[in-house]
Amino acid sequence: MIEGLARPLAAVWNAVASALGAFYRVLGAPGKLLQDFLNGTWLGHSLHAVVVDVVIGGATAALLLDVLRVVFGVEGLEDAAIWVLGLAWLAGVAAIFSGLTDFKDTASGNERNVAGLHGLINLFGNTAFAISVMQRMNGNHDLAFWVLLVGYGIISVGSYIGGHVVFKYGYMVNHNAFSRGKRAKEFTAILPAAELPDETPTKATYGATALVLVRRGDVVHALKDSCSHAGGPLSQGELDGDMISCPWHGSVFRLSDGAVKHGPAGTRQVTYRARISGDQVEVQGPHD
Ligand code: FES
Repeated sequence: MIEGLARPLAAVWNAVASALGAFYRVLGAPGKLLQDFLNGTWLGHSLHAVVVDVVIGGATAALLLDVLRVVFGVEGLEDAAIWVLGLAWLAGVAAIFSGLTDFKDTASGNERNVAGLHGLINLFGNTAFAISVMQRMNGNHDLAFWVLLVGYGIISVGSYIGGHVVFKYGYMVNHNAFSRGKRAKEFTAILPAAELPDETPTKATYGATALVLVRRGDVVHALKDSCSHAGGPLSQGELDGDMISCPWHGSVFRLSDGAVKHGPAGTRQVTYRARISGDQVEVQGPHD
């Protein structure tokens, strides 16, 4: 049902995602840093989820203060409600910017459509919060209460749809969380060393797990091939010094330990110990 509601505006969601991509590309290196900050790469997971907690918590607290005042006649709560709802609105602005940055790298189709609908509805909800704050500052506390009530209802619907896109589509969660793949304490031969060229990301299989191998002389790095952001094939990515980038949305991982250098990925890429033994490439792990 949610997908059906979101689909008619698919062209809008695609245009917004394209415009955001172009915006960040024009900004160049500073844009990459801004994107990393707003994605939450530095935090280890989505920044959007953190600021949304403040939005919902602040709006709930403001609503409680209003209910205490309107229903139970508690006096002297007006100023507190302004400050708390003002904080919730400010966090809502941060949620819009962080959410748009995540949205840029959604998969087109249902995931992008539902994420777009989530964002649009919450934009209306946050606008209602702003109107409620302004009414309070003009002394219209009773009208502000009803506006907040409407805004809270809108945000609740938007949050439900946000949960739908995360829990149904795995949006902005670690793509490798449920696919740990083969684990082995002993080194296992996976490829003749002669078939692994230097300085070339090469796909190989370790049990049923696809790996990307990068050879530098006698040193071999091995990472899970499927990008932690959304499953892009790192074996089709590019090397840059000690880093490898994902071809889908440009996340950059350190070869030696899978650490995230640039997002949108927020989770370390799974890595393995690898070596050349005799005429074979051998792999053991993964590292935990
Ligand atoms: S799949 Fe998105 S950066 Fe790799």
